[in-house]
Amino acid sequence: MRFSRGWGLHPCHSFLLRCNVKIKETLLQQQEITERVNSLGQQLTKDYAGKKPVVIGILNGAFIFLADLVRAMDMAVEVDFIRVASYGQATESSGTITLSKAPERDLNGKDILLVEDIVDSGTTMVWLQKYFTTEHQPSSVKTCTLINKSQRRAVDVNIDYIGFEIEKGFLVGYGLDCAETYRNLPEICALEE
Ligand code: PRP
Repeated sequence: MRFSRGWGLHPCHSFLLRCNVKIKETLLQQQEITERVNSLGQQLTKDYAGKKPVVIGILNGAFIFLADLVRAMDMAVEVDFIRVASYGQATESSGTITLSKAPERDLNGKDILLVEDIVDSGTTMVWLQKYFTTEHQPSSVKTCTLINKSQRRAVDVNIDYIGFEIEKGFLVGYGLDCAETYRNLPEICALEE
């Protein structure tokens, strides 16, 4: 899990936000994100043709990406959500993950698409893949993340669909937070180190 900081001032917008670390730069503009998400949606529409996938968002970060992604998929889908909690080191996933909100759909025989805002160490996604394949009986489990930080990988994990590869920086916006703030920024920015 990603480290959350304190409270402060957002330098690019006219309102105060609760995080004491300022925005350093915008990495992905709104238009760039929209184009990539639409492209992923078209690819998923082709790959899941003839099926009705269950798109499962990993709360909280995935909520905006998922909302745009499913609207870019020109097909029937089901939507569900899961939330996990992680304990241990502050700056990355500890490997000790527990379920805090279970999915509510019947997933037996379904084609599951797990949707993340970011895969960092990979610990959360590995746990999720194991959870869905052992606790449910899906037909398939695929993974999709808006942002992949493969350089920070601590475990091997397969990601089927990747929006953007970004190597460095603490990222906020488009669902990504700093102490639960900045999620509603329409673009993706890096905070000052
Ligand atoms: C973030 C992100 C992933 C996880 C990735 O969640 O949404 O779920 O960290 O980290 P990992 O690859 O190192 O396991 P976070 O714990 O920040 O919660 P949030 O989704 O509520 O922001």
